[in-house]
Amino acid sequence: MGYTRARVAEVLDLAPSVKMYILELSRPFGSQPGQYVMVWLPGVGEFPVSVAGEKGGALRLVVARKGRATGYMHERVAEGGYVFVRGPLGRGFRLDARKALLVGGGYGAAPLLYLAERLSGAGATVHAVLGFRSREHALLVEDFRRVAGEVWVATEDGSEGFKGTAVDLFERVFPGGGYDAVYTCGKELMMEKVVRRAVEAGVRVQASLERIIKCGVGVCGACALEPLGLRVCSDGPVFDGETLLSLEDFGRYWRDHSGRRVPLPP
Ligand SMILES: Cc1cc2nc3c(=O)[nH]c(=O)nc-3n(C[C@H](O)[C@H](O)[C@H](O)COP(=O)(O)OP(=O)(O)OC[C@H]3O[C@@H](n4cnc5c(N)ncnc54)[C@H](O)[C@@H]3O)c2cc1C
Ligand code: FES
Repeated sequence: MGYTRARVAEVLDLAPSVKMYILELSRPFGSQPGQYVMVWLPGVGEFPVSVAGEKGGALRLVVARKGRATGYMHERVAEGGYVFVRGPLGRGFRLDARKALLVGGGYGAAPLLYLAERLSGAGATVHAVLGFRSREHALLVEDFRRVAGEVWVATEDGSEGFKGTAVDLFERVFPGGGYDAVYTCGKELMMEKVVRRAVEAGVRVQASLERIIKCGVGVCGACALEPLGLRVCSDGPVFDGETLLSLEDFGRYWRDHSGRRVPLPP
């Protein structure tokens, strides 16, 4: 799959170290919520980013500053500049819910916003639980309020909404909510708890995993999950709850840059 050169139409500061980039595509990607693109900054690096929205040739990406490539993007890629993107890649969320609860943490809220827009556009009832470190780090909350029926926010320091984690708030909201689907994206330890709880309750659940992605098309094995050998880049990044709970790696291991299996980073 080739690269598309995309013009940066707008850059918005969402939170400390998190920016939204709106890219003008020369051809629509036709992406689905949960799919991702590889962003290539020549001479710097390439990294995966979930699609946070696509409409009329404009692709929305939310990028948190982590290391070399995302740091360069934050500092040097401005409105009017260009980046290269390939995609859309991977398998996204199934969009067959009637009443869905979305549970997101940090920049994991970004792909869930795209999902919320699509589900509510298809007539589903959408509620969201969003967890952040503090009010300052909360992002996309107003965007969610425009498309979701209920939006509950948790902050670890209690500076906005419920004091606690997204999982704590999920535990309060989920029972008795009458949801037929749960969707989650964020820290894997958070997702593991959400997935386990939903599967126990017999509610369909899907989660978007993060791993080191190199090829993005299933050939290099950098993102393989034990023991099934599923590839996060092409079989996922979205998997259903039963599949996730059958994996040794979910919530425990990932692979470092050399492909070695190591404990999941916190
Ligand atoms: C499917 C998927 C969706 C993602 N969606 C988002 C998103 O919407 N917003 C966001 O901010 N982040 C997202 N990430 C995480 C993002 O890819 C990493 O934070 C980013 O690659 C870090 O790059 P870096 O160079 O700044 O950091 P460094 O730690 O310096 O990483 C060095 C290099 O490792 C390579 N790499 C490839 N995949 C990864 C990875 N998953 N994590 C770390 N390094 C990687 C890249 O070449 C990267 O430049 C997603 C990851 C995956 C797998
Ligand atoms: S990144 Fe190469 S197989 Fe997934």
